[in-house]
Amino acid sequence: MHSIRVNLAENSYPILIGRSALETSFADGVWPDAEAVMIVTNEVVGPLHADSLRGMLAGRYPRVLELRLPDGEAYKDWETLNQVFQQLLINTCGRKTVLVALGGGVVGDMTGFAAACFMRGVPFVQVPTTLLAQVDSSVGGKTAINHPLGKNMVGAFYQPRLVVCDLSLLETLPARELSAGLAEVIKYGPIADMEFMAWLEQHIEALRAGDHTALAHAVRRSCEIKAHVVGVDERESGLRAILNFGHTFGHAIEAGMGYGTWLHGEGVGAGMVMAVELSHRLGLVDAAFVQRLRSLIERAGLPVRGPVIDAQDNAGRYLAWMRGDKKSEAGEIRFVLIDGPGRAVMRSAPDGVVREVIDACCA
Ligand code: NAD
Ligand code: GLY
Repeated sequence: MHSIRVNLAENSYPILIGRSALETSFADGVWPDAEAVMIVTNEVVGPLHADSLRGMLAGRYPRVLELRLPDGEAYKDWETLNQVFQQLLINTCGRKTVLVALGGGVVGDMTGFAAACFMRGVPFVQVPTTLLAQVDSSVGGKTAINHPLGKNMVGAFYQPRLVVCDLSLLETLPARELSAGLAEVIKYGPIADMEFMAWLEQHIEALRAGDHTALAHAVRRSCEIKAHVVGVDERESGLRAILNFGHTFGHAIEAGMGYGTWLHGEGVGAGMVMAVELSHRLGLVDAAFVQRLRSLIERAGLPVRGPVIDAQDNAGRYLAWMRGDKKSEAGEIRFVLIDGPGRAVMRSAPDGVVREVIDACCA
C-alpha cells in the first residue's frame, strides 16, 4: 500500500492507495475515534460495497449506521443533503460521530458538506469508489451541492481526516464511468507534469482495461500532484485554480444539458479540448499540442466535441453559463489555459475568440 500526506498543518491527513487499502487501513489504526459512524452511500454503490465496509467498521466503532441516497448528479441538492441531517438526528448522533463517504464524487461532495455543517462540524472519511473520486474529488476538501443556477455553488472547504483509495472497489465500475475518471487523470499532465502525460499515452488502454498496476500508478501520481497543489493553496486563492482546467467549459456543458445528462468527466474531456484550443488561438501552445491532447482524450473514450446547448445562440448560452463560474471576476470569465506543455495559467479572453472556439468545437 502507498501513503501520501496532504500537508495542511493541524488539518493534515493521509491518502492510502492500494488493492486492499481498506482492510490495511483498519490494521493501521488511522481511523478517527468516535462513538458512532454513519456510512453515507447511494442505491448503486451500497448493495455492491457497503456490507463489507460495515463489517470492518463494526470491529472499530460501537455503533454503525448506514444511509443510502438516491443515485446521480441530479440528487446533489438540498433535499438529498437534508436526508443526511435527518438520519443523523433521528438516530441521536452527536458530535462524536464520523461520517464515511462511500461512493463517487457526488456522495463524497455531499457527505463532506454534511460533515462540515452537522453540529458545526464532525469528522469525515472519504472512501472513493470511482476513479474520478480516487484521483480528484476525495482529496482537498472541496465539498458542495449544486444549485439550479450553477454547479457546486453551495458548499464549504472542509478536509477529510483520511482518504482510502481501495483499487478493488473500481472493479465494479462501468466503462463509461472509468473513462469519465480518466478525464481528471489526464488533466494533471498538461497543467503540471508532461512526463505523466507521456506515461498516460503509453498506458491509456491498460487503464481502460482496469489493469491494477496501471491504475495504482495513475491514482498515486494524480494524488501526489493534487496533494502538492492543495498543500500550497487550500482555499484556491491562486495555484489551486489550475485544477479546474477544462472545467469552465465543462460546467457549462453539465448545467446547460441538465445535470446528469453528460457525466462530469465527459464535460471536462470536451472542456479540455475547448480550453487547449482557446490557448492555441491566444498564441500560448502550438497546434501539434492541441492535437496531442485531443487524441489522448479521445483514446480515453471521452467526447472531444461539446454539445449544442442552445440551437439559437449556442456560444451565447455557453458564455452566459461561464460568466456565472466561481472563478469569474466582475462578470469576466477567467479560463485555465495551457501556457506551454506542462504549465497552466489563468487568463481572460476576448468574447469573440471564445465564440470562435465554441463554434469550432461543438457538434
Ligand atoms: P458519481 O458520484 O455520480 O458516480 C458515478 C456513477 O458511478 C454513479 O452512478 C455511482 O453510483 C456509480 N458508482 C460509483 N462507484 C461505483 C462502483 N465502484 N461500482 C459501480 N458503480 C459505481 O460521479 P463521479 O464521477 O464519481 O463524481 C462526479 C462529481 O464529483 C461531480 O458532482 C463533480 O462536481 C464532483 N467533483 C468534485 C471535486 C472536488 O474537488 N470536490 C473534483 C472533481 C469532481
Ligand atoms: N477539482 C478541483 C479542485 O479540487 O480544486
